[in-house]
Amino acid sequence: MIAFGLAVSSGLLALFADPPAVNPAGVPPIQIVQINRKDPVLYDKDIEPIFLNKCAFCHSGNIKEGKLDMATYETLMKGGKKGGAIIPGKADESLLYKLSAKVMRPAMPPKSEEPLTPQELALVKLWIDQGAKAPTAARVRPKIILQPPPASVHPVRALAFSPDKSTLAIARGNTILLNSQIRPILANLANSNPLARLQVALNDPLANALQAPLLDPDLKSSDGKPVRAAHVGLVESIAISPDGKTLASGSYQEVVLWDLKERKILRRVGGFADRVVALAFNPDGKLLAAGGGAPTEDGEVKIIDTASGKVALDIKSSHSDTVFGVAFSADGKMLATCGADKFVKTWEIPSGKALKSFEGHTHHVLDVTWKSDGKFLASAGADNVIKVWNFEAGEQARTLTGHTKQVSRVTFVGTTPNIATCSGDQSVKVWNADNGGVQRTLTGFPDFLHALAVTPDGAFIAAAGEDGSVKIFVGQANQASRTIPVQD
Ligand code: HEC
Repeated sequence: MIAFGLAVSSGLLALFADPPAVNPAGVPPIQIVQINRKDPVLYDKDIEPIFLNKCAFCHSGNIKEGKLDMATYETLMKGGKKGGAIIPGKADESLLYKLSAKVMRPAMPPKSEEPLTPQELALVKLWIDQGAKAPTAARVRPKIILQPPPASVHPVRALAFSPDKSTLAIARGNTILLNSQIRPILANLANSNPLARLQVALNDPLANALQAPLLDPDLKSSDGKPVRAAHVGLVESIAISPDGKTLASGSYQEVVLWDLKERKILRRVGGFADRVVALAFNPDGKLLAAGGGAPTEDGEVKIIDTASGKVALDIKSSHSDTVFGVAFSADGKMLATCGADKFVKTWEIPSGKALKSFEGHTHHVLDVTWKSDGKFLASAGADNVIKVWNFEAGEQARTLTGHTKQVSRVTFVGTTPNIATCSGDQSVKVWNADNGGVQRTLTGFPDFLHALAVTPDGAFIAAAGEDGSVKIFVGQANQASRTIPVQD
């Protein structure tokens, strides 16, 4: 059954034609309607809202399915994996139109999601046939209607161990789960008596819950529907305070602080330009650095006073594009940031004065970490390499190669010279940053990895990504000890 979503107020004259008899997409095609419109179809007014509403979730930000980025007109016109998706003037020959009309595989959006209405499809067709014109110069960013992610989209974007190692916080889709399945493992390690181990596991209330979500009881989508989650949009980043009491989570235009023990919301901090994709507490937990910013426009680095929720420091024009990583030095006197502008930068805290910046990656820099002595930094790049930087000398120390896709996270392991990384190549590696040697390679992941957490003693490594499942590695094992599946 095809729904006709014709808006009465649009003043468009609609004529209906029969849908094509052949159906190569395997799903019913969208009804073709002709719209009779004298004024040109405008990208910003007519087209972008449709794409933002029905496509952008899977085609912008950190998810770019089919390598197609629909976040801006420019990236849209670049096309995806199969090349240009739009041929100006020729909608019938444009991949984007054929997939959206569901006359070619894979139908877009996928079956599980709300299809374009015949009228939306007709507008897209007319826009392409009129030459797929760019938005006018004096345009305003459209207001994004924030909706929960489609059910099929539940990537794990961030992971964090509590300081006592008893809990793993998992940011999956728009939820945050506190997983205590590592408690029995810890008890196992600590105790050779099997009965005693069982006792520890049974007496532990959180371990019995095993997976408790952090929920905001008042959460609603912008159309007023209740949402059972931590944020309406995807959770992009999380961090746990050094005392283990507070968890911070970042999502679209906001950061939320949670009381971990009571599992309830402490405060919501708004005022961010776009997604908050990086979070880090300073060593005394009084400050929280948040990184993000609107893609291709501006990077954003704000330091929040965790007690008041107020912005303690706003480092303006830190990066010229999205900031993907923030990290405080162990003494809390410096902040390192990195971003889509290919730079790693360092700042004096609390003044915000620029210290040194490091250039060498040939693509987005996705994460940054300080060595515990504050003398070296390591950064992870979408150019598939990790770079180690000598902070004092202000220069590159070495480049670590071995990952075959973008390196999404990097972290120094406690006070050791070792770093752990995860990558789109579906592996985790542990390296010695002093000599560049690979010490361990952890495999068996089914998909692109976005998230990594390592306890300071290196005893636990957790990694996860696009498919939503999480793997935990204990000790020196290269096989996962636990896999936390996606439960839906
Ligand atoms: C739920 C996620 C999801 C949504 C929503 C979605 N897509 Fe996709 N899209 C995908 C996936 C996954 C692929 C890759 C499919 C493949 O390669 O087999 C894809 C691929 C594409 C491609 C092909 C890119 C290339 O060069 O390979 C186009 C064009 C496209 N989508 C357009 C759209 C449009 C237009 C919309 C909205 C009307 C949309 N998509 C909504 C998931 C989605």
